[in-house]
Amino acid sequence: MTSKEKFYLTTPIYYVNDEPHIGHAYTTIAADVLARYHRLLGHDVFFLTGTDEHGQKVAQAAAKRNVPPQQHADETVVRFQALWKKLGISNDDFVRTTQERHKRVVQTVLKELKEKEELYTDSYEGWYCLPDERFWTEKDLVDGKCPDCGRPVEHLSEQNYFFKMSQYQGRLQQYIRDNPTFIQPESRRNEVLGFLEKPLGDLCISRPKSRLPWGIEFPFDTNYVTYVWLDALVNYISIPGYATDPARFQKWWPADLHLVGKDILTTHAVYWSTILMALGLPLPKTLFAHGWWTVDGQKMSKSRGNVVNPGEVIDRYGVDPFRYFLFREVPFGQDGDFSETALINRINSDLANDLGNLLSRTLTMLERYTGGRTPRARGEAAGRSRSAAKDGGAAGAGRCPARKAGISEGVDRDLGRGQSGEPVYRGGRAMGPGERSRQRGAAADGPLPYDRGAPDRHPLRLPVYAGDGVRDGAADGTPLSSKGSH
Ligand code: ME8
Ligand code: MG
Repeated sequence: MTSKEKFYLTTPIYYVNDEPHIGHAYTTIAADVLARYHRLLGHDVFFLTGTDEHGQKVAQAAAKRNVPPQQHADETVVRFQALWKKLGISNDDFVRTTQERHKRVVQTVLKELKEKEELYTDSYEGWYCLPDERFWTEKDLVDGKCPDCGRPVEHLSEQNYFFKMSQYQGRLQQYIRDNPTFIQPESRRNEVLGFLEKPLGDLCISRPKSRLPWGIEFPFDTNYVTYVWLDALVNYISIPGYATDPARFQKWWPADLHLVGKDILTTHAVYWSTILMALGLPLPKTLFAHGWWTVDGQKMSKSRGNVVNPGEVIDRYGVDPFRYFLFREVPFGQDGDFSETALINRINSDLANDLGNLLSRTLTMLERYTGGRTPRARGEAAGRSRSAAKDGGAAGAGRCPARKAGISEGVDRDLGRGQSGEPVYRGGRAMGPGERSRQRGAAADGPLPYDRGAPDRHPLRLPVYAGDGVRDGAADGTPLSSKGSH
């Protein structure tokens, strides 16, 4: 018996203090679409998401509310969990970094790094960006602010533990060059290679408890807690069983895909890759950093008061139109702008007009020309649709659920495997399934040569063609729907 191909994919784990918004929803829905797609292909899928609950940011948010950080996390995590439920997210697990199953693996990782002599102590003198939870040196700063997000930084001077990240710089550069599909899209890969042109420093991975007690305690020095990024990144291996369940870990690791936003590209491409190298573990197959959503042309922020609450959008327009909009509107990988007008236009033009009109015209034509029965195309085997017969013939994949569902070659090509057999997540219209139904709809809309006055000469072709369009459109969209196969 051949075992099923596995597919392990992750989202970032979101800071629990933030109100979930369309940015968080975007990454999570993208992962959900891919998870559903790979399940349709018959793969054994493990789809992991969760929340990042330690660190200074969460501690401060809790202090502001005058509640202990754990209580704060317990009270806010439900906002993410409820939203994922509402969005039909089909994740297989949900990690919270305050869970015991995660904490003990972080401690094991720290012990291993120490035993491998990957750690040393030194005094840290530099700057810290609280919103990003990242360290910067004096010369990194741009106009005295965080070079990444432009927000103010605070000065730090304290004794800390460091991970010898710098020694992996050359190896990482080589790895990225040798593995062109490791970091995607290509513009992001070039960005990381550019970053690695500059000397890479070591990574400060501890915080003195005297200043910040909210974190995972160092197993060999109780005066310290773990830097929140090291803690968070380890979730990708702690949950599939690193150091606790070797068989399970062996099955799932390396991850097939880490999906992230472009804001956290460096922490994943550089911090995480070098930590894995130090542990002697293979790197994830693909790290895909998608683009950034603005709202009505503006950066989303609490102070601007323009943060889009996905729950409210869904209540007004429905889950599937929202999911459809996010992936039809913007080529995956590029930045996008959200506006209610754009959403309404998509619903009206693509869903109501193109797809709805196609469906209605197809039904009318089926009534008119074929007595309401779905005709078979010439040469089609009994009981099989035209495109399924064609796909099945070419790929011999009659047993493949995706083929049975009629998932088109286009989706397969865009989301599936490239020639090398490696997954390829293209920019471009990778998740825009509307195109084929739009084309078919347009074709069915006007008088076609074989419709005009000559339906009896080609009595079946137009309904078959239009009917294929409805089926293909629906099948392409299956993973996109919150109610699609799971
Ligand atoms: O960075 N457009 O968590 P976070 C698109 N805890 N995507 C957006 C977005 C926007 N405007 N805003 C947020 C963290 N996102 C860490 C991650 S992982 C080991 C630790 C999405 O709550 C996007 O996926 O700040 C981005 O990378 C993520 O939310 C950041 O979430
Ligand atoms: Mg952030």
